[in-house]
Formats: sequence, structure tokens, C-alpha cells
Amino acid sequence: MSYSVVVLASGTGSLAQALIEAAQRGATGPASLAALGVDRPCPALDMAKTAGLATFAVYPADFPSRADWDQGLAKAVAVFQPDLVVSAGFMRVLGPAFLERFGDRTINTHPALLPNFPGAHAVRDALAAGVTTTGCTAHQVDAGVDTGPIIAQRAVPIEKGDTEATLHERIKVQERLMLIEVVAGLACGTIRLPGR
Ligand code: GRF
Repeated sequence: MSYSVVVLASGTGSLAQALIEAAQRGATGPASLAALGVDRPCPALDMAKTAGLATFAVYPADFPSRADWDQGLAKAVAVFQPDLVVSAGFMRVLGPAFLERFGDRTINTHPALLPNFPGAHAVRDALAAGVTTTGCTAHQVDAGVDTGPIIAQRAVPIEKGDTEATLHERIKVQERLMLIEVVAGLACGTIRLPGR
């Protein structure tokens, strides 16, 4: 039984790359990557092309409104009929049309221990708050910002002298491992998304 995954990204794509490599060595169970989609020109797009993955770009500037972009994204993803959509560093909130179609099968990974530090500056916010431990969370996507049901978490201690960059890199090491584990678990059926 195959299990097809579409990844959405906006940045360097190191999480997506870790998933591609994990799938190649059989570490994601029956899950294989069908495509990577982006919302802006970014290194993730080049990485996926180099890896020989199908890619698609859905840029907001090409649509008259946010709602149209949302529908355009849903359409582009639907081409691949995915069992799972992974938002891995996709820096845009998924809208109602997308969630109506894929909300039961879309997960996000976030660089903080939700519900603490939601939003685009989670690592900076954790440092500013002076906590001693932060981490990463995989969760199902809902209409809020980083608010959906939590699937998995990993803790990462904050070290003396950490900057946003050094801390984020250490979080991403755990985030990649967590994401591979979650995708494998979902594909094998040992993890179930609420509502599926
Ligand atoms: C991850 O920490 C993700 O949670 C956040 O952006 C980072 C993506 O990293 N939203 P990369 O682009 O996959 O390297």
C-alpha cells in the first residue's frame, strides 16, 4: 500500500530534504513524497528539483485575492491526490478552501512547544521569554495559527549564549527526526489524525 505525501515549504527546505532522504532509505514506511509546493521562490524549490521531485509554485501575487490563492493552492495539491500534506516551514496560513479539502490530512511542524510561542517568531519569542527549554511540535492544521491538535513534541534545552540562529538549528535537528517519525507513524497507521 502506498501513501503519498505533498510537502509545502517556503524556506531552505531542510525539513523537506530530510523527509525525501528518509523516504529513500525506507524510514517513512509506505510513505513517499509526491511533490513539493512553494509560495515564493526559495531554496526549497531548487532542492526538490535537484532531488528529482515534482514541484509546483503557487505565488499569491499571481492571484487577485487571498481566497483565490487559497483555492489555487488546493487545486495544485489536489493534482497529486495526497494522503497527507506536510507544511514544513510553509510561512503562510492555509485558508478555508484548502482546509475544507485537506484539513483532515494536513499537518504542520512548528519550532516551539505549543501552545507556547505560536506564530512566525517562535524561536525568538522563546529566547525573549527567558525559558530554559523549548522544542518543536507536530500538529494537525486547523483554521488558527499553530492551534491544531498536537501529534508529537520534542524538547530542546536552551544553552547559555544561544542566539536565535543557533537555537533554531538545534531545534531543527529534532524537528527533522520528529517529522520523519510522525510521517512514518501516520503512513503505517500507528498515529491517527483526529477526525480520520
Ligand atoms: C522549521 O523550523 C519550521 O518549523 C519553521 O521553519 C523552519 C523550516 O526550516 N516554520 P527549513 O526551511 O525546512 O530548513
